[in-house]
Amino acid sequence: MSELKTVISDQIKKHGKGRDALMPILQSIVEKNNYLTNENMVEIAKELDISAADVYGTASFYSFLETEERGRYVIRICKSITCDMKGKGKVLRTIQDMLKIKIGETTQNKKFSLLETNCIGLCDQGPAMLINDDFYNHLTPEKVREVLVDYIRNKN
Ligand code: FES
Repeated sequence: MSELKTVISDQIKKHGKGRDALMPILQSIVEKNNYLTNENMVEIAKELDISAADVYGTASFYSFLETEERGRYVIRICKSITCDMKGKGKVLRTIQDMLKIKIGETTQNKKFSLLETNCIGLCDQGPAMLINDDFYNHLTPEKVREVLVDYIRNKN
């Protein structure tokens, strides 16, 4: 059985063969592979007996369910107004200059992707960002530079 089929059948055992299994299946695949391919979504639709459009609609609604290949470290900087007013622009420019990528892009070595996200609940501590599941707050150009240097030097 393929890895995908195993994930699907494990989740169907837990949640039944229907829409209840959809989110857990999508999350498990993203945890394992970082993103969902079109083939994954078609296969899931077949196995759950729902339409591929339904699966795609769910996956694209949630920004953490990636439908494109991303770097190992996905930086999500908050684009909401409070972080914007607290200096997110300078922080973003620092990230873009250091990594030589724009929003929506991935570095050539596939280590980093840079995305914007809606509020991540740290408005009183903005500007804020996530790198994968780790939160970073009170960002300044200096602080974000330190964070990125650490990732560049110490994390594979
Ligand atoms: S506005 Fe940026 S974390 Fe809420």
